[in-house]
Amino acid sequence: MAYQNIDLTRDGHVAIIRLDRPKALNALNSAMMGEVAQALAALESDDAIGCVILTGSDKAFAAGADIKEMSDNDYLSIYKNDPFEANHCAIERFRKPIIAAVAGYALGGGCEIAMMCDFIIAAETAKFGQPEINLGVMPGIGGTQRLMRAVGKAKAMDLCLTGRMMDAEEAERAGLVSRIVKLDDLMETALDAASKIAAQSQPVAMITKETINAGFNMTLEQGIHFERRLFQSLFSTQDQKEGMAAFIEKRKPHFKNK
Ligand code: HXC
Repeated sequence: MAYQNIDLTRDGHVAIIRLDRPKALNALNSAMMGEVAQALAALESDDAIGCVILTGSDKAFAAGADIKEMSDNDYLSIYKNDPFEANHCAIERFRKPIIAAVAGYALGGGCEIAMMCDFIIAAETAKFGQPEINLGVMPGIGGTQRLMRAVGKAKAMDLCLTGRMMDAEEAERAGLVSRIVKLDDLMETALDAASKIAAQSQPVAMITKETINAGFNMTLEQGIHFERRLFQSLFSTQDQKEGMAAFIEKRKPHFKNK
């Protein structure tokens, strides 16, 4: 499959999706996000892939939804032909682990799709923000909700109401990103993390991801109950037998994704 707006490569059991509209700072238009959704659908059913990295360029992860494409909408056209539901939201529905490797601008929809990923590794140059208010709108694919859950109400309000950007250090302090690395080390670090994840049992990694995400919509008691049942269910897998036997025999486990 030849893509025009993204670059899809593989490194072992890891797939790397690079957003590739450099002239528009990777602004997320329908063509690009349609390709992301198509690529994710193919990767989800590809047993050889255990983890995905979503990244952009050194200058921009993505500077937001494509303002030029979006600007002529009225309420009914954007409601009826919701350009974001099928494509952008394919990232939040992706069931395997997916890491955002962010350098440069991650603004508006760019910050929102980074937050749809399971965690964010940021280069020192990363800048995050929800500047939609400067355009007379507000975040529309989770920015108010995911940002608030990640960084708390005060900082989410500050960012969404002023439209200011925060740098990588502030984002890490606030809990939005899991680690900051030098720009030159960004892809190596993301690949290292993704390869570690891809070497685990695939169903176990997927169920772990599902359990953490499910907790956002549950009480603590419900979440702990859900976790316990799934933990118990993993004892039906060959990978649990292999993982524990390997520890006892002082060797590396060889998971079969079964
Ligand atoms: C369309 C964009 C764009 C965007 C940048 N470009 N961001 N095009 N949509 N979101 C284009 C510019 O028009 C320009 O093209 C080229 O990319 C380079 O941008 P410059 O502004 O010249 O670069 P620079 O001066 O370095 O400033 C970088 C920037 C600025 C600070 C990131 O581009 C900026 O503020 N962009 C908009 C950020 C934003 O508001 N994002 C939220 C979008 S709304 P030309 O052809 O002129 O050279 C949103 C809603 C989400 O995301 C809700 C639903 C998904």
